[in-house]
Amino acid sequence: MLSIDPASMSERENYKFLIGSIIPRPIAFVTTRSKDGVLNGAPFSYFNIVSSNPPMISLSVQRAQGRQKDTARNILESKEFVVHIVDEQNVEKINKTAASLPPDQSEIDLAQLTPVDSLKISVPGVKEAKIRMECSLEHSLELGGIDSPGCDFIIGKVVQFHIQNDLYEKGRIDPRGLAAVSRLAGNHYAKIGDIFEIERPK
Ligand SMILES: Cc1cc2nc3c(=O)[nH]c(=O)nc-3n(C[C@H](O)[C@H](O)[C@H](O)COP(=O)(O)O)c2cc1C
Repeated sequence: MLSIDPASMSERENYKFLIGSIIPRPIAFVTTRSKDGVLNGAPFSYFNIVSSNPPMISLSVQRAQGRQKDTARNILESKEFVVHIVDEQNVEKINKTAASLPPDQSEIDLAQLTPVDSLKISVPGVKEAKIRMECSLEHSLELGGIDSPGCDFIIGKVVQFHIQNDLYEKGRIDPRGLAAVSRLAGNHYAKIGDIFEIERPK
């Protein structure tokens, strides 16, 4: 067994160790709106459930050389965002939105995604997702150093769920129909593989 102290590795090596080990990671496609009204969209795989009661999710947005990404800045300013589940049908388009565009240009236009109004918040989502969640900012934390934080950790409360009708039956979501994709390392993604059952002990 090789034992490694992260302090002895470069930032890039630590990144590669984490993204290669913590797999598969769900992917959120997040829409936000800037002060000037530009609709922004980007994928995030540092994404998960924080709580089901109340329903809350987390996103972790890295800073690049200390600079906040548009998604983090927009969420902190407007306190609203929409999370979409990335799937086999939308992943190609959503990958295009990971381009680093200046804040006045919309990745939604670039990827030819279709904005759709939200019910409870003012930030639109996009049609090309079978599940989307309207979120309000619950909490944010700057992590990784007082002088130069390395990441914006965002916790959002889900205020509205949207799901394609045929995927939802008796309160259960059809995993094959959803066909969510996950992120591995590098340019690799994975589909849902074999599904098996294990009974939970009483
Ligand atoms: C599948 C995928 C997952 C990603 N996950 C993250 C992530 O969890 N955190 C992050 O900071 N960047 C992540 N990125 C990179 C951002 O999407 C990228 O920096 C994007 O341009 C940020 O957009 P923005 O500046 O409009 O917020 C990911 C990219 C891809 C393609």
